[in-house]
Parts: sequence; structure tokens; C-alpha cells
Amino acid sequence: MSSTKRKPSRVKSSRNGKSKKGSRPSSPNKPSQDSIVSVLAESRVFNPPKSFSRTALIGSEQQYKKIWRDSVKNPTKFWAKQAKEQLEWIKPFKKVLTWKPPFAKWFEGGKLNVSVNCLDRHVRTEKRNKAAIIWEGEPGDTRVLTYHDLLREVSKCANALEAMGVKPGHRVAIYMPMIPEIAIAMLACTRIGAMHTVVFGGFSSEALADRCNDSQASVVITADGGFRKGANVPLKKNVDAALEKTTSVKNVLVVKRTGESVTMKPGRDHWWHDVVPNQSGHYEPYAADSEHPLFLLYTSGSTGKPKGILHTTAGYLLGATISAKYVFDLKETDTYWCTADAGWVTGHSYIVYGPLANGATAVMYEGAPNFPDWGRLWSIVEKHHVSILYTAPTAIRACIKAGDEWPKKYNLKSLRLLGSVGEPINPEAWIWYHEVIGGKRCPIVDTWWQTETGSMMITPIPGAIPQIPGSATKPFFGIDPEIVDKNGNPVPKGQGGFLVIKKPWPSMLRTIWGDDERFKAAYWSQIPGMYFTGDGARQDKKGNFWIMGRIDDVLNVSGHRLSTMEIESALVSHDLVAESAVVGRPDDLKGEGIICFVTLKAGISPSTEVKDKLSKHVVTQIGALARPDEIRFADALPKTRSGKIMRRLLRDVAAGKQSTQDTTTLEDLSVLANLRQDED
Ligand code: PRX
Repeated sequence: MSSTKRKPSRVKSSRNGKSKKGSRPSSPNKPSQDSIVSVLAESRVFNPPKSFSRTALIGSEQQYKKIWRDSVKNPTKFWAKQAKEQLEWIKPFKKVLTWKPPFAKWFEGGKLNVSVNCLDRHVRTEKRNKAAIIWEGEPGDTRVLTYHDLLREVSKCANALEAMGVKPGHRVAIYMPMIPEIAIAMLACTRIGAMHTVVFGGFSSEALADRCNDSQASVVITADGGFRKGANVPLKKNVDAALEKTTSVKNVLVVKRTGESVTMKPGRDHWWHDVVPNQSGHYEPYAADSEHPLFLLYTSGSTGKPKGILHTTAGYLLGATISAKYVFDLKETDTYWCTADAGWVTGHSYIVYGPLANGATAVMYEGAPNFPDWGRLWSIVEKHHVSILYTAPTAIRACIKAGDEWPKKYNLKSLRLLGSVGEPINPEAWIWYHEVIGGKRCPIVDTWWQTETGSMMITPIPGAIPQIPGSATKPFFGIDPEIVDKNGNPVPKGQGGFLVIKKPWPSMLRTIWGDDERFKAAYWSQIPGMYFTGDGARQDKKGNFWIMGRIDDVLNVSGHRLSTMEIESALVSHDLVAESAVVGRPDDLKGEGIICFVTLKAGISPSTEVKDKLSKHVVTQIGALARPDEIRFADALPKTRSGKIMRRLLRDVAAGKQSTQDTTTLEDLSVLANLRQDED
């Protein structure tokens, strides 16, 4: 890959993983609601290597531009063509789009089945015995499932679920480790036409109970446990605790993974190995309407209650399929690996649906990247000859910190393309990824998207678009983003603003489960007629997009979204706490760290013991992902005269910065002074 115009940027590129403090551009300070000041200047450009472009599906910028321009000029024509070409239909659709903002219906009149698109259509071809999933467990055990194997297992699981009363439209919660059965369970739901809601295995029993209650799931699929850093994650135990607080769940299907002893409740709990293997390996796929609900995935918003994001069948599948195809430039010979957990949208779209719909071979890994040591990721790349690696900046930064000696021990020459997702990738991490992992020969696709968008929205097409460290570059086909001010007017190039999407797209969320009003308020009320992403961004003179981070009260911790309100609610639910405010602080490894300001109830004295108790409480309420990085006690929190906590001031305090923000609405200036003194 050739690099042109290397101008020193604000960000120091370092090879030992140490960045200059405050140099991370991803969340230097959350942009405020009114104005966004963009500070990052990065002008290193990496053109796609000729050898890559020559064989790429889209091999030049002109080709990209032509397809993109046509696609946004006439989106229904573009999407109709793609839907016919990329998907297999049981019944063809009649109408491409019905758009009654903010409600979209795509491909009405059509019928299809997602599992048929991911499995049956390949099993009928020479891909029948091709590896669909190459799985590696944390202890080192491996399994390979061909397309034919996967179809048989999915059909058996669908039969077992049907025997438990699961019908089209029912909700099935999946709370599992990263073992092949998680993909089997997801696909089995789609075969029946039931909706899955995958709950990340790192979430607590409380979080699982909330999601089961909100979705009214009738079945939970889980495992006795999963391996993580050599330890056992007690999934079944968490399910048992969650089910104490739910009434909708009638059956629990349990995979034996760790062999840990678990309690099985007669009549409710069933071992997978007792009920799945002896089912028939055939299940007649449900012919789902295009808009049939496919899955719910809960994500954090700016209020305390997670939102059940609803995706539907045809549109979602089309988005995942064509983005995986063109952004990963998928070839028959590729071995593709996405390191995400299937509990996040990245795992849904780019471990399961996107790669399988394309008939690709996907690697799946159960455990931690540093088990037994920091060479694990690279050993997997070497062992399975991974050619496409898709991971997150937080993992890249952790690997930089662990040292170059780990990747250097392994042969990474099989890699031809690298990807990044979850948060802005800071240029120093980009350069390290490019040089140390990609051997300077692999393009990097920095893909911007969200749980809500279903599939990638802004990303380089690797053989066509010059890449710039830190920029997600150009919109994907059919996607029409813009940077606007708070009145919805486009801002001049180079100026920061709100990232919106102007036209509907097939894989967009359809609503928030059971709450159309919240759906309208969260995404469609800020700028009428446009989808409000909640991210600040700017576009440079060449049209490249630079994502600057969330503009709402959502934190991005290790590439995962957490609502500050959710953590505050968890803290306040503890007996000792009177009030709390949670803010993010730039963190070299995690992107953002979680800083909690807490006022204790009268008579309670701050102590390390209290801090530990509160920290554990947050973990129990939400999960280890939400563990506070710091808890600070305060006599009072900075508030406006109307009583609103001024989080922007707290963000400065947390970052150890002198505030340049307007404090005229602050009720009691001494509060801020006291918070600062506490730092000394
Ligand atoms: O702030 C953006 C950030 O992650 C948010 C979406 O989070 P989630 O729904 O959990 O999905 C993560 C995986 C798709 C976005 O609003 N984000 C995601 N990818 C990028 C990013 N920020 C900058 N660059 C990215 N490539």
C-alpha cells in the first residue's frame, strides 16, 4: 500500500504503544449539543495497493463513485436490483419501499427465509462441504462445521425449539458463550420465523432478566458456562437468577460446555444433548414476509432503559449480505475472522448473517485475546490462515500495549485485508495495525455503523477508496449521510456537526420494541425527516467522513455502548447512595473510561470499602463491562438552576482539565471548586 503526503498530525505515532496523553482523537471531549469543534488533522493517505485492486470486486474509485452516485440518485432501483441478485426469494417482492417517515417497509409482498439464504442455497451447490464455521475454543479445542453440517444442526435445533412451543414471531433469548451452538440457535430461530434476542454473555442476570421481560421471551438458550481467561463464566447460574424475576420463560435449553455442575429444574430445563441430536435433520423453513420481525438486540440509549432495536427479515439480510461482500471483498478462498462476540450487532451481521449469506468460511473464537498469552489472536490467524481480520480499536490498543513481540512470533502472511469497528480508530493504532499486523500490504476498512443501522454505513471499499488513518471515509452504496447543524442545515466542509442519514435504507431499524414513540423521539425528532445517528462528525474537502464520537449521554467503552443514565440508575439503586453522575474520560485502552461522581446518604462516610461495594453493585446490575474506572465522592454535584446535573463540567473535572465551558447557569460555583480540590 502506498502512502502519500505524510504530514505530521496532532497525534503522535508511536511504536511502543504509548500515546501522548490527550492525543487520542476519539473522544477528546464529548462534542456539545450546539457546536462541534473538530481538532484532528491527519493527512496521511494510503492508496489501495494495485495488487489488491486488480482482483477486487470494486477495483477503482471511479467505479465506486459511479455505483454510489447512481445508488443514491435512484435508491429504489439500486436496492431492488441488489435484493433480486443477492437474496433467494420464496416469493418475489412487489414493492421496493413504502416510506411513511419514520416507518419504512421494504420489499413488500416478498417471502423468504434467512436460514435458507445462509445455508440451503449453498448446500445445493459445490459449497455443500465447504467449511462454514471454523471454531476454536479457548482451551484450544476446535470444530469445523461445513454448510451441510450447519444446515442439519440448525434444522435439528429448530425442531427442538418447535417441540417447546416456539412459533413464528415468538421471542427466544440466547445467552451463550461463543460456541457454534450460538450461531446454530440464531439460525434455528430464523428457520422457524421466531425472533432471537441475543444477550451478551458478559451481562449480569439482572440485565438478562430485563431483556427477557421486555421481549417476553418464552425460551432461553444457554450453556452451563463458557471459558474466559481460563475461568468459567457461570451462564446457567445467571439464567437461574434471572428467571426468578421473569414469568414469560417456560423452557431453557442448556448446552454442556464447561462441565461445571449446574442445577436443572425439571420440566423447565433441558440439556441440548438430550433434546437436539435425536430430532430430524429436516425442518421446512418458514416463508417469512419481507417485513417479518427477525431479531431484537438491546442497546443503550440516553435514558436508563435499554432499547430493543427491531430488525426485520429481508432488509436486514440484504444490508448484511452486500456490505460483507463488497467491504470485505469476499472471495471463495478467503478465511474470514471477526473477533466480536455474537452478543453484539457486529457478531450478528459479520460473524453469522453476512458471511454465511455469502457462503464464506468464518472463524469463530470462544475466549479472551490474551489467553494463555497475548499471542492468541495471532496464533489463530496463523493456524487457520485467516485472510480477513475484523476487530476493534480497543483490541488493537491492548495488543500494542502488550508489545510487538507477540504478533512477531507468528506468520501473518495469510492476511490480505484488515477491518476496524466500534469506535474511531486513533491514527497511531491504525498505523500499528497497518504495519505490524498487515505488513504494510493490507488495506484497512474502518467501518462506521450502529446496532440501529444493521450494517456498515460509512467505510472504505478496500480496492477502491484511499484510506486515511482515523477516517471512516466514504458512504456505502445506497447510503446518503450528511453533516448538519442543529436546524438540519448542512454545515460547510471541514466543520463539525451532527451526522444524519437522509434516506431510508433496507437494514435500518424499524422501531424500538413496543415503543414507537421512543423510536420517533430518539432518532427522528431532532432533525425532521432524517435519521439522527447521535454521533458528531465532520466531512473533509475530499468528502471523507470523520466520526468524532457520541453527542448524547452514551459512553463508548471498549467499542460497546453504555448509557451514563443506566450506570447512574445502578448506583442510585444502592442503599448508600443519594445521587450520582457518570461521565466518560478519554482512556488509552478502552476509548472511554467510566468515572462516577457519587454523593452518599447522610451519615455515610466515603471509604475504599464503600467504593468497592458500589463498584461490585454496578457489575451485578449491568455486567463487568460497566465496572467503574473511578468512583469519586462529592458533597454535591454541579447543577443548573433548574436542577439538571452539568455533566459537561464533570467531564472536564474527570479529565483533569480546567473548564472552558460556560458556567453561568451553574447554581453553586463552590461545588465545582470543591470537586477540583478533591482531586489534589
Ligand atoms: O459512536 C459510534 C461508534 O459506535 C456507535 C454504535 O455502537 P453500537 O450500536 O454498539 O455498534 C457498534 C458496532 C457497529 C456509533 O454510534 N462507532 C462504531 N463504529 C465506529 C464508531 N465510531 C467511529 N468509527 C467507527 N468505525
